[in-house]
Amino acid sequence: MRMYDIIMKKRNGKELTTEEINYFIEEYSKGNIPDYQVSALMMAIYFQKMNKRETADLTKAMANSGVTIDLSDIEGVKVDKHSTGGVGDTTTLVLGPIVAATGVPVAKMSGRGLGHTGGTIDKLESFKGFSVEMSREQFVKNVNEKKIAIGGQTADLAPADKKLYALRDVTATVDNISLIASSIMSKKIAAGADAIVLDVKTGSGAFMKKEEDSFELAKEMVDIGNNVGRNTVAIVTDMDQPLGFAVGNALEVKEAIDTLKGEGPEDLTELCLTLGSHMLVLAEPTKTIEEARNMLEDVINSGKGLDKLKELIEAQGGDPSYVDDPSLLPKASIVQPVLATKEGYVKSIKADDIGKAALVLGAGRETKESEIDLSVGIVLHKKIGDYVKEGEAIATIHANSEKKQKEAENIVLKAYNIVTEEVKKNKLIKGII
Ligand code: URA
Ligand code: CA
Repeated sequence: MRMYDIIMKKRNGKELTTEEINYFIEEYSKGNIPDYQVSALMMAIYFQKMNKRETADLTKAMANSGVTIDLSDIEGVKVDKHSTGGVGDTTTLVLGPIVAATGVPVAKMSGRGLGHTGGTIDKLESFKGFSVEMSREQFVKNVNEKKIAIGGQTADLAPADKKLYALRDVTATVDNISLIASSIMSKKIAAGADAIVLDVKTGSGAFMKKEEDSFELAKEMVDIGNNVGRNTVAIVTDMDQPLGFAVGNALEVKEAIDTLKGEGPEDLTELCLTLGSHMLVLAEPTKTIEEARNMLEDVINSGKGLDKLKELIEAQGGDPSYVDDPSLLPKASIVQPVLATKEGYVKSIKADDIGKAALVLGAGRETKESEIDLSVGIVLHKKIGDYVKEGEAIATIHANSEKKQKEAENIVLKAYNIVTEEVKKNKLIKGII
């Protein structure tokens, strides 16, 4: 088999066979095919697209390119959740504990992440002492006994995807539905979950800005999951404004604690209940979404979800007293409101710009080597549809440098579009596939 022929076949709009797809992934992983040939193939796929069979084959080939994790010594149906990424998305910190508190195992591999804020692990490190370092045996033991553990992502999970994604990133071939779907699903499949709930974001803060593209991506991923025997559900959700109010690591931890107490933002609470209900139905402690939702609401109202967070923090070496006293969480030295320059209704909040402001403050990483400042970020006070008076605080900036605070303030002010006519609130859940 020759890579040249594979490139030409796809360039001419033909369907690649399973053998051809396996060949190029295997040989590329081994370093036997140069980047320039794979770049050409990615561009051919970008223009000519792949059908469902080719996409499923590519997913399987990438999932099998490294270690595949076996979670079979954890009792029960293991359901994983994945979000395609948004701004201020604190979901995992709430969803993990409430799902675990119903008795469904949560065996989560999380990342540190590049971007406007840290990943789930960075956020959890706001609890002094918290660590994801543990043996596989300890991880399994924690999930069996406590129903929840959060581990670090191993580097050798779907290594072909890592190589391919880095190449796509610099050759303008990221935004093809088949390539994105296979990239995400290969990692989920290698991570060993029995069932997968996908939160596919749509809007200004998402990877997919257009709703129809988000639905297409969602459908593609659900088809792949079901094709490889993992029950998969996708929920398309709004990311036209940040989720909840807080954007920033310790600030989001505080928001998660509030949500577990039943005092969180409406949208974050609703998203967690929706995603959680689908996880419960896939894990089969209940058959109906309504019953699942009641179980999760009970867990919040009884405080069992909050207790589960404390249990998780303690089991992984962190100080659980922070949950009862969030004032112990890392705090910024400068806390300044952003004041509205005019009166009216919030029409839009550019989510990616709010993310940029958080990054400017130091909440995220610009490169893999950057240090994160856990204490900084932005707390929004006004969301789409809200009425604002001139001079009223639309947000509060938490910073450790006056210069960065001013810079973030300017970005936040520009991210808000305030108009005179009344504005309808955004619909959070756009559809379920
Ligand atoms: N996230 C991924 O993991 N892969 C993509 O291709 C795009 C987003
Ligand atoms: Ca948030």
